[in-house]
Amino acid sequence: MNHKIIRKKFKDFFEARGHKWVTSSSLLPDDPSVLFTTAGMQQFKPYYTGQADPIKDFGLLNTTSIQKSMRTSDIDEVGDESHLTFFEMLGNFSFGGYWKKEAIKWGHEFITKELGLKIDYVSVFEGLPSAGIPADDESEEIWKSIDPGISVKKANIHDNFWGPTGNEGPCGPTTEIYVNSALRQAQGKPPVEVWNIVFNEFFYPGSREELLSGKSDKKLTKLKTLGIDTGMGLERLAMVAQKKKNIFETDLFEPIMNSLPNHFDLRTKRIIADHSRTIVFLAGEGILPSNKDRGYIMRRLMRRIMALNIPKDIIDAVIDTYADQYPELMVKRNEILGVYSDELTKFNKTLRGGLNELKRLEKVDAPQAFKLYESFGLPYELIKDFAKDKAKGLNREAFDEEFRKHQEKSRAGAEKKFGGHGLLLDTGELKAGNEEELKKATRLHTATHLLHASLRKILGNEVKQAGSDITSERLRFDFNFPRKLTPEEIKNVEDLTNEAVGKDYKVTKKEMAYEDAIKSGALAFFKLKYPAKVNVYTVGPEDSFFSRELCGGPHVSHTAEVGKIKISKEEAVSAGVRRIRAIVD
Ligand code: ALA
Repeated sequence: MNHKIIRKKFKDFFEARGHKWVTSSSLLPDDPSVLFTTAGMQQFKPYYTGQADPIKDFGLLNTTSIQKSMRTSDIDEVGDESHLTFFEMLGNFSFGGYWKKEAIKWGHEFITKELGLKIDYVSVFEGLPSAGIPADDESEEIWKSIDPGISVKKANIHDNFWGPTGNEGPCGPTTEIYVNSALRQAQGKPPVEVWNIVFNEFFYPGSREELLSGKSDKKLTKLKTLGIDTGMGLERLAMVAQKKKNIFETDLFEPIMNSLPNHFDLRTKRIIADHSRTIVFLAGEGILPSNKDRGYIMRRLMRRIMALNIPKDIIDAVIDTYADQYPELMVKRNEILGVYSDELTKFNKTLRGGLNELKRLEKVDAPQAFKLYESFGLPYELIKDFAKDKAKGLNREAFDEEFRKHQEKSRAGAEKKFGGHGLLLDTGELKAGNEEELKKATRLHTATHLLHASLRKILGNEVKQAGSDITSERLRFDFNFPRKLTPEEIKNVEDLTNEAVGKDYKVTKKEMAYEDAIKSGALAFFKLKYPAKVNVYTVGPEDSFFSRELCGGPHVSHTAEVGKIKISKEEAVSAGVRRIRAIVD
């Protein structure tokens, strides 16, 4: 049963049961509180809460889809038998159309009759009285009425309670279906959770972490309409339906794995197969490697496999595997290959030297790792990955500590020189050789924040910072945007920026927890790890600010100090990335 048949069976099954087929939404959700689409329900969030009307949009109360999804929290586990960064999720959804009985009955029928698999056991929510959520006895009864012999396990809030995703949203207890192919059983491996059926009956006005902490005073409230949200990972389903030992042996991965040279070990092959899929799908959505947000994840995945000198055919192998389901990948083949080669060229220019240096080292400890980072830009993850046993003793904390020591040293150096012998400040973004240069560069730095905010206000939030470089002469700001700006747009951006200067907004700095910073609307570089406290610069009033960003400074204290801003040039840096140069009077 190849993956195309599984897809079709699923779609036909739910269409025949009153569901409207909806194509996968983008991997990049509208919801600013989540970086990537992590589940099928993401695009349907407003239908659960009543903000959108399913009848108006779909003509039905129920939908079904196969959703492109990404989860990056387990990125370091990729390479084992089951972790992935990109996957597809089969799901059926209802916004007041049906409830537990139908959802469970159809789940059972699809798994046992359509796919002919045996259910080993199911799990149901045991309840959490302290939060006012009762045990899900109803689901247990429904399962028993369908199959009196079925084994039902109780599970707690960590395992059998879904959501909310992002900063707030629908959530509720789940029932999960575990199956096993005879093959896995023979290997002594545990059953596989194939299907998660969520009963969205609550709304939580905070994040999942807050909900699970038990410390927040935010309260669950009942949703007006009861909702169904289910998710079944296609890769895992293919594994059990095709009686394979692991997901990498299914037809979703086989052509990709087979296109790799034999000298790679199995773990490496799996990492390459996983990352190349994610890269293709992200590039297909217009994501470019950068040092921020999604672009950073993209860059990290790309660098990790580029360090291994893999053949470029891998990209073609991924596109070919998915061409039928996602024809847009065929259309964008050259664009995707272009994104890959551009980054590879950069990689070879900058990082290859560092990797060669790394090869020469016998052992890599934190100071050496930091030196590689400082001299060649080799990121920690790549060092750790590439040096393997040589970097056994190296850990993130020690590396960050070196980083901190280095920053302290340069800060101390800068402060010492401030006495009058000329200042040298190099934050990576902003460079100044003496006090006068620093003053000018500081004005240009604030101008950069104003410009960034104006670009987003005029062109929309798809504008994302891709780079910034400031000298005492000019600012240079790179951002993701698909086309050239019109002269009118440039003028509007310039005018809005100067308006903000004219208003002489106050610039305030506040130290806060990363989570709170993001919640307060600050734009941030996306890193996997943030220090507990970050600095946030706000331009304008607290409740209606003009700009807010996570930033190390320095900045002027009032925007009038910036002076008049003039955009001197707007040009392309590469596909999808624009560059603006500007000066201040
Ligand atoms: N939204 C649920 C999940 O992703 C179905 O597991």
